[in-house]
Amino acid sequence: MSTAKGLEGIIVTETKITSLIDNQLSFVGYSIDDLIKYSSFEEVIYLLWYKRLPKKSELTDFKQKLFQNMELPKEIYPHLENMDLEKTHPMSILRSIISLLGAYDPADSLSYKDAQIEKALRLQARIATVITTFSRMRQGKEPVKPKEEYSYAENFLYMLKGKPVAPLEVQAFDQALILHADHELNASTFTARVCVATLSDLYSGITAAIGALKGELHGGANEQVIKMLMEIGEVDQALPYIKEKIAKKEKIMGMGHRVYKKGDPRTKYLKEMSKKLTKRTGQEKWFQISEIIEDYMKKEKDLPANVDFYSASMYHSMGIEHDLFTPIFAMSRTSGWIAHMFEQYDDNRLIRPRAKYVGPKNLDFIPISDR
Ligand SMILES: CC(C)(COP(=O)(O)OP(=O)(O)OC[C@H]1O[C@@H](n2cnc3c(N)ncnc32)[C@H](O)[C@@H]1OP(=O)(O)O)[C@@H](O)C(=O)NCCC(=O)NCCS
Repeated sequence: MSTAKGLEGIIVTETKITSLIDNQLSFVGYSIDDLIKYSSFEEVIYLLWYKRLPKKSELTDFKQKLFQNMELPKEIYPHLENMDLEKTHPMSILRSIISLLGAYDPADSLSYKDAQIEKALRLQARIATVITTFSRMRQGKEPVKPKEEYSYAENFLYMLKGKPVAPLEVQAFDQALILHADHELNASTFTARVCVATLSDLYSGITAAIGALKGELHGGANEQVIKMLMEIGEVDQALPYIKEKIAKKEKIMGMGHRVYKKGDPRTKYLKEMSKKLTKRTGQEKWFQISEIIEDYMKKEKDLPANVDFYSASMYHSMGIEHDLFTPIFAMSRTSGWIAHMFEQYDDNRLIRPRAKYVGPKNLDFIPISDR
């Protein structure tokens, strides 16, 4: 029995959702380059869930349903009030509240096959409200209601900040949501699929996936990147900082990828947005520091920047709190997690691999009094 540590290179399922072949990222056959240019996050969610692009009326209807499902059940607020919102990491809050939302969703008691779309819509819509609500509550501010005429991206930023946001920021944020929407069998998506392959429900799958995304080798990396940029502080400190880290054999967050060894196709877009947005807000130094790190890592370690690297300086320049970066990733990736859980249900088999036993064998049991 051979083993593949980290399941590297192991194909465990077929999928019609996302392809990473030849470093080209596409969703249901549509290249990310076109989706970024011509579509919206809502259209991409529809594409991932229904495996086809919506007609105009279908998209309008879908957007409206997302909007209509954004409000949180009133029972959620006392739970949020009882949490220590200042001290608890937002990913822990998000994981717990998403799990609780399942308890307050009447469709959750139905069998795994029924009411899937209703549950999916509620999950996708409400995750935005959960993040913006606890962010405002911990600042002592009232939650803000979404507006029907706004897109998902615009509503998120509006509910977060409590005021309208510049169109350039809305557009960049919408594109960032598209770029993070799905990524084949990454750790959190695999987690979601393993969970629902037992015929568990969507809320359980998303709760498990959020737990997996939280780690810094996965989605948690974007928060670590901004921490690093803040520690570096000034452009002239970037090289000495990175050299010291590398000399100490420490990992540089936002660098490297299990699949993309030549470069992450999402990076160029996030880099462009980071450049534009940091310039617009007079915070170019975060972009400049990032670029120095990227160049150094490519040259010295042949490690390319991944999706988490430039999203950090981009979100920072938009005034988004640093510990919300990973929850935002979760909000976008919920669309992909749901698509994969649907695909799993459609052709399910329990996921149950084997482990090669390498521990001691045939030991004589020693009574507790003799140990
Ligand atoms: C993404 C990641 C987990 C992929 O991991 P992986 O395929 O298991 O690769 P490994 O961690 O085994 O790394 C292979 C080699 O590259 C090095 N390496 C990988 N990523 C590195 C990084 N970010 N900084 C420094 N060195 C890195 C490892 O130290 C290892 O070197 P070694 O062979 O001399 O021991 C890894 O690149 C990483 O930890 N990156 C930082 C976290 C991050 O940004 N995660 C978000 C991913 S989208």
